Amino acid sequence: MRIACIGGGPAGLYFAISMKLRDAAHHVDVFERNRPDDTFGWGVVFSDQTVENLMANDPASGSVIRDEFAHWDDIDVHIRGQTIRSSGHGFIGIGRKRLLNILQERARELGVQLHFESEAGSDLDDWTAYDLVIAADGANSRIRDRYQQHLGVDIQVRRNKFIWLGTHKVFGAFTFAFEHLPEGWVWAHAYRFDDDLSTFIVEMEPETWDRLGFADMEQKAAIAWCESVFAKYLDGHSLMSNASHLRGSALWLNFRRIVCDRWFYRNLILLGDAAHTAHFSIGSGTKLALEDAIKLAEVLNRPGLAREDALQEYQAERNLEVLKLQNSARNSTEWFETLERYLDFEPIQFAYSLLTRSQRVSHENLRLRDKAWLEVVERWFQSKARGSPVNEPAPPMFAPYRLRELQLENRIVVSPMAMYSAEDGTPNDFHLVHYGTRAQGGAGLLYTEMTCVSADGRITPGCAGMYAPEHLSEWTRIVGFVHANSAAKICLQLGHSGPKGSTKVGWEGYDVPLDSGNWPVMAASDVPWSPNNQHPRPMTRADMDEVISQFVAAVRMGNEAGFDMCELHAAHGYLLSSFITPLTNKRADEYGGSLENRLRFPLEVFRAMRAAWPAAKPMSVRISANDWMGELGVTPSEAVLVGRAFTDAGADLIDVSAGQTWAECTPVYGRMFQTPFADQIRNEGKIATMAVGNIYETDHVNSILAAGRADLVAMARPHLVDPMWTLRAAAAQEYRDIAIPPQYLAGMTQLARNLKREQELAAALKA
Ligand SMILES: Cc1cc2nc3c(=O)[nH]c(=O)nc-3n(C[C@H](O)[C@H](O)[C@H](O)COP(=O)(O)OP(=O)(O)OC[C@H]3O[C@@H](n4cnc5c(N)ncnc54)[C@H](O)[C@@H]3O)c2cc1C
Ligand SMILES: Cc1cc2nc3c(=O)[nH]c(=O)nc-3n(C[C@H](O)[C@H](O)[C@H](O)COP(=O)(O)O)c2cc1C
Repeated sequence: MRIACIGGGPAGLYFAISMKLRDAAHHVDVFERNRPDDTFGWGVVFSDQTVENLMANDPASGSVIRDEFAHWDDIDVHIRGQTIRSSGHGFIGIGRKRLLNILQERARELGVQLHFESEAGSDLDDWTAYDLVIAADGANSRIRDRYQQHLGVDIQVRRNKFIWLGTHKVFGAFTFAFEHLPEGWVWAHAYRFDDDLSTFIVEMEPETWDRLGFADMEQKAAIAWCESVFAKYLDGHSLMSNASHLRGSALWLNFRRIVCDRWFYRNLILLGDAAHTAHFSIGSGTKLALEDAIKLAEVLNRPGLAREDALQEYQAERNLEVLKLQNSARNSTEWFETLERYLDFEPIQFAYSLLTRSQRVSHENLRLRDKAWLEVVERWFQSKARGSPVNEPAPPMFAPYRLRELQLENRIVVSPMAMYSAEDGTPNDFHLVHYGTRAQGGAGLLYTEMTCVSADGRITPGCAGMYAPEHLSEWTRIVGFVHANSAAKICLQLGHSGPKGSTKVGWEGYDVPLDSGNWPVMAASDVPWSPNNQHPRPMTRADMDEVISQFVAAVRMGNEAGFDMCELHAAHGYLLSSFITPLTNKRADEYGGSLENRLRFPLEVFRAMRAAWPAAKPMSVRISANDWMGELGVTPSEAVLVGRAFTDAGADLIDVSAGQTWAECTPVYGRMFQTPFADQIRNEGKIATMAVGNIYETDHVNSILAAGRADLVAMARPHLVDPMWTLRAAAAQEYRDIAIPPQYLAGMTQLARNLKREQELAAALKA
């Protein structure tokens, strides 16, 4: 094959090498606009896995690269005069220039034709002499942009400004240095990649960059400014740019996140940064470029594989890898873009949050990397939760939590779950056993299902209520059992179904109207949940007054029943949620329009409940923090204001759910998928939050809590099949200080022993 590679960066060179290795008969020309030694940037970092891939593909260049790597294990986070060092992170780095020289030499050795100072054209008609044209010309690929409508190119320009510099100061650890100036925070990412060279990237928010006047500052002055701000980390070394041809502020960049729907068109194939980028804070752009090159060469040379099939396979496999990495990279990018949220954390928690920012590194990953450091974090977390120094480390999930006068034993919560098993709103033995078992399972707090404040406020005929004397007596029996037989506290979730009422029980069809016996429904406006649901009656003032008095009556009964806490359900498209989301609130009066107006009725309800609920007992509010409809609905940023409004009115905790407010919404599912909203509301709004949604491992829970992303963690479905989830988690983590019903003690001891044995066996097998 005759192949033209546009671009002699890591992708182009390594692809050329990989093709020649597989078939020396290929003719490969690499066209690079720069000279062999000109290159932007400084060092690149890799993981051990990347090196293994390079060794497997080409031991000759792989071993040279491997032998030249600078290795380091430590990460230092400098903030507010403190340095937090953690170890075991295992990075390797090499100078970009050196890497390119190694690849150039190897390419020459294999017979690749390298053409430097050769500007390549971006029209495919210029390349008719070649079978394949490889766009390896980096993130600003001109040939990709020319054919962008065929390739589905999506470019997102991220907000922060950064400058990529180098220095002769040799950093012993990967260093993050945060400095607070009157104009805002600025920070550096620095790491060694050579015997006497380090990369030094300076980053800041665009507002800070504007205030510092970089738009009108010459390159030299900007570098001198960076040197003076970070002088204490540089030990007298200067900072250097190797893009000295750039004038004025051109040295400052905004990261461009690139994705392409299609990676090939006619005989053009995208490779490396031309096809995708990953934010520099995750350091994997070069790794992706090299791995793309290996895969592409492999499919193109596989005997019997047609070109189209080869390219489909290349795109499918590499795109999956890229998406995974871009997901982590996006988390990491956003962490730096929303840094303001975390800056008042204590340094140890700030460092933990930084290390876990991409969500690829979890609590247990950190334990594997640096057990001693993680135990410092755990002791810090427990000491803070208990208000006195703690010597023994313990998992964050087993830290107590206080809400007003209510003391929770731990941070695990059984999330509200409708059981659709009541008759005329009256709970029964099913509920006694259901809640009783989950209370005995060790969670610190147990929520009831949505308990409805009136018969018409029920979702289904099977929903539980709190509006009749028999409801009060049955709930009193259940609460009494929970208090007598466990250390769990119990919270009553009160709600009104609104437009989603008069529907079938869950397992007969969610939100499907009853076959017969439907009752009329009401909402903020005449917007049905779906074309199959009833048109709700827009609420009148008289309706509002009636509903408020129903919530107040229910909250009083809840107190009488002995509940420890009460939650107002203002999420998921039910009555109060129908007011909050603009998708369903079309009112023209003072209850519609602005957020303040949309919140007016839900807040009237909440304030009336709060006034009727004892001051010593806490209240939470469940909200949908994202309608998953972009700017048309509630966004996470607006949810911060919603959370604030309820806490200003006396809520102690925001229970952060999302969605179910609009039938056509498109949620982005994944593990812990709603936790970012709990994080945003907590740390921007300075509000206590509870995270929920596809959280199912002990590691998820500990990571969320230690990183300060939420104060409590609720799990619903995991508790359906495993009521003893918390006891099992305690046994798995060898945590003994948990309240266990004495009747079950023997089982717990055996479980802990067996799990330990399994862990030891797994470790022995691994060794
Ligand atoms: C601040 C920063 C830090 C980074 N840190 C890391 C890191 O630590 N680890 C890591 O793995 N990656 C890192 N990267 C990413 C990394 O630089 C890229 O992902 C990687 O270089 C991609 O390789 P590539 O060959 O696809 O593109 P490039 O390296 O951009 O190479 C493209 C080449 O094409 C040439 N070219 C472009 N147009 C033409 C043309 N028309 N004619 C001829 N030649 C042309 C260019 O001169 C260039 O040499 C970082 C990036 C940035 C911006
Ligand atoms: C069977 C079932 C019933 C639910 N009923 C309620 C409810 O009554 N009130 C409520 O706020 N959320 C309800 N939810 C939502 C859960 O509380 C939780 O937010 C959701 O299931 C996501 O958490 P998970 O991934 O841990 O299951 C219900 C969920 C399930 C699975």
